Amino acid sequence: MKFEFLEKKATAVKSDALILLLTKDDLAAGKEGKVHYGKVDHLFGDHKKQIEAALKAGGFEGDKEQELSVYSVGAHRIVFLIGLGEKSQLTNEKIRRTAAAGIKGARHAKAKSAVISTLDSTVEQLSDYETVHAIVEGIKLGYYRFDKYLTQRKEKSEVEGVTVALENVSSAIGKKAARDAEILCDAVCLTRDLSNAPANEVYPEVLAEVASDMAKKYHLQARILDEKQIRKLKMGGLLAVNSGSARPPRFITMEYKGNPKSRDWYAIVGKGITFDSGGISIKPSSNMGEMKMDMAGAAAVIGTMQAVAALKIPVNIAGIAPCTENLPSGSAYKPGDVVTTMSGITIEVDNTDAEGRIILSDGLYYAQRYRPKAIIDLATLTGACVVALGQHATGMFGTGDEVMAQLKEAGEKTYERVWQMPIFEEYEKQIKSDIADVKNVGGRWAGAITAALFLKKFVGDYPWVHLDIAGTAMLEEVTDYAPKGGSGVGVRLLTQFFKQIAS
Ligand code: BES
Ligand code: MN
Ligand code: ZN
Repeated sequence: MKFEFLEKKATAVKSDALILLLTKDDLAAGKEGKVHYGKVDHLFGDHKKQIEAALKAGGFEGDKEQELSVYSVGAHRIVFLIGLGEKSQLTNEKIRRTAAAGIKGARHAKAKSAVISTLDSTVEQLSDYETVHAIVEGIKLGYYRFDKYLTQRKEKSEVEGVTVALENVSSAIGKKAARDAEILCDAVCLTRDLSNAPANEVYPEVLAEVASDMAKKYHLQARILDEKQIRKLKMGGLLAVNSGSARPPRFITMEYKGNPKSRDWYAIVGKGITFDSGGISIKPSSNMGEMKMDMAGAAAVIGTMQAVAALKIPVNIAGIAPCTENLPSGSAYKPGDVVTTMSGITIEVDNTDAEGRIILSDGLYYAQRYRPKAIIDLATLTGACVVALGQHATGMFGTGDEVMAQLKEAGEKTYERVWQMPIFEEYEKQIKSDIADVKNVGGRWAGAITAALFLKKFVGDYPWVHLDIAGTAMLEEVTDYAPKGGSGVGVRLLTQFFKQIAS
């Protein structure tokens, strides 16, 4: 799908579909309770008659996410009016959602091209840049589908070109915002694709290849450690989890030097379990297939590295992802085993299904090499986090208060919201082991917290934030601009975070 920004009236752009995002204020009811469209009728162009007739017929008042479609003749075959709600309440999230609704409508109407506009390019709470950015995000992310394996149902007709037309936004700002959003959403879609891909297609070697191809394309450094190198570094955690798998592990590292003058680094670490069967502590068979997405943290790290590099954000970032399958076999690690991690810290394995924290022990310890300003990890770590927060918030834990405040702000801006949970030291005794430094499970209660406290042992004194994306990485229900399945969560959040850090 190609994007274009034009500093023009939308009706002046010829295309199959015209999408107009309108606030309630734009269509405020007049004295007799009739909709007054005088403020916007200049947007209707040669569809004025049809649209006015449709509006007169009643119903559409620009309420939040209200939709009205009008078939027409002239420069556009079909016109979609979509409500943004009250002008004073307008947010970039509402723009994303309505833009997504618009493009889905255009797809259903088999439009090949669409032009989208909104009257409200100049509301106080949003800059022109943010408005255009949100429109393109909504369209690109809302249009996404994972249909690679559908041999029959593939859409015959696709929307090939989208024009964002806002006559009050300067061409320079509009083009930059559209381009930036496109770059960002390409990275989100990469992360979605990797999460959605089945485990027979995406296994550690493949993830590593994707990372190095990406690095070549976007001019950053990738170094992939193979099994021999992993062994040499004594990454006992990663090797233990890998021991049941017929496929070798990979330890992915990527370096992006966006600010060569600075020696400050940030490290982002992602859990890369390409399939989690639970291992010897095997999971029940129902829905086990979902565990193909247990590498969503690693995928988000790869996607974020692509986004920051392509957007040239002036920050130095190291991306790290330990990758393996977690499978049972005669050679698999077992409950009761004690493993020595790269840090030297020993782990008593009580449950082989708590494998994410075991591979992350080596990933987080390795991250300390960069003496980073902060370490941020993303992991589909615990079912307990899903129980606590469902699919609408990522669990946030950590020691870096400033980083967490920045992430909270980034979460609100991107709507990839995070919610902080406590890591009080009193919880720690749940993961005490009688025979090793730490045990990999902490009993029934507060499972997301004890998992976080386990990770904390491997980050030294560096400010650290753990994001448990178990509930947000794979959606069981569609949202406005994400279908069921991989959401790509983390990419927009972290990219926004680094934008904030850089400014
Ligand atoms: N990958 C799972 C966590 C998970 C569960 C992610 C549901 C997404 C949806 C993780 O490796 C796991 O199995 N965790 C166990 C830990 C337990 C054994 C302490 C869990 O949450 O049940
Ligand atoms: Mn598991
Ligand atoms: Zn797992």
